Amino acid sequence: LKPKYFYDDYGSDLFENITELPEYYLTRAETSIINTISSDLMRTLDPTEIVELGSGSSVKTQSFLNNWDYEASQRTFIPFDVSRSIVENASKSFLASYPKLNIHGIIGDFERHLEKIPKPSGKRLILFLGSTLGNLDPEFQVKFLTNIHDLLLPLDRLLIGIDLVKNETLLNAAYNDSAGITAKFNKNILSVLNNRVGSNFDEHNFEHYAYYNQNTTRVEMHLVSKTKHDVFLPKINLHATFRSEETIWTESSYKFTKETIEDVLVQSGLRIAQWHTDKLSSFALVLVGLR
Ligand code: SAH
Ligand code: AVI
Repeated sequence: LKPKYFYDDYGSDLFENITELPEYYLTRAETSIINTISSDLMRTLDPTEIVELGSGSSVKTQSFLNNWDYEASQRTFIPFDVSRSIVENASKSFLASYPKLNIHGIIGDFERHLEKIPKPSGKRLILFLGSTLGNLDPEFQVKFLTNIHDLLLPLDRLLIGIDLVKNETLLNAAYNDSAGITAKFNKNILSVLNNRVGSNFDEHNFEHYAYYNQNTTRVEMHLVSKTKHDVFLPKINLHATFRSEETIWTESSYKFTKETIEDVLVQSGLRIAQWHTDKLSSFALVLVGLR
């Protein structure tokens, strides 16, 4: 299943709740890096436009805007997300906070609709935060970054947030929080499927299961069928039979090292311009340019 199917209105709200969980260190670690680097970065890059892919609520992005001369003429912020409510709400709240900024929201799939981004009006900074890159399988990471490569001019930059390989206990806790919010987020994909393809999944028949797979350096999230049962997905005419313990693999969340992300970037025609981590080296922000 493509990760975009998690993010209906309820799924987007659940993800916002995840970012505040004590076990989910990713958002806090990334925020601390952004707060450390945003002032220097915005002064040296001085972009005309900021494009944010998979923008979500764009809470962290405010640190870039607060260090940007956004009142200069023709400065534009372009949030791009598959979730309508998230693009509308973030755009409205940014219009209220930054009245002189042009905002061009795009509701679309970043694996298919990048051509909807308007032609650049000047130097561009593209943000891809939150380790959303890690939700793509490796072949799609390269495909996606190659498409971004084609959007970049020599002075443009891409800033990617990536979660780093680390202690298994911390990773397992981040995806198995004690409040059960990640389990709700995982099960919500069944309700998205029911709404989209008219299926009759019952979330009570499934259990949340997430674990770090050291060999593949990814957290795999699954829904494990508790019993033998059948589900019908009418709009795609699929009868699915589940054995007890059989799983639906709902998400992968790849974790990187500097070497593995560099390999993906090189394959996509890109290079690391700057590398920043938090104090515990749990998360990295990678500033990327054309090779
Ligand atoms: N950037 C935010 C949100 C990360 S959650 C942060 O760092 O906190 C991932 C976001 O990517 C969600 O808002 C989701 O709706 C969006 N998303 C997932 N797949 C997408 C796709 N194919 N195209 C566009 N947006 C997508
Ligand atoms: C958005 N993405 C990077 C999150 C992640 O950590 O893979 C989505 C998520 N899945 C479970 N918890 C959070």
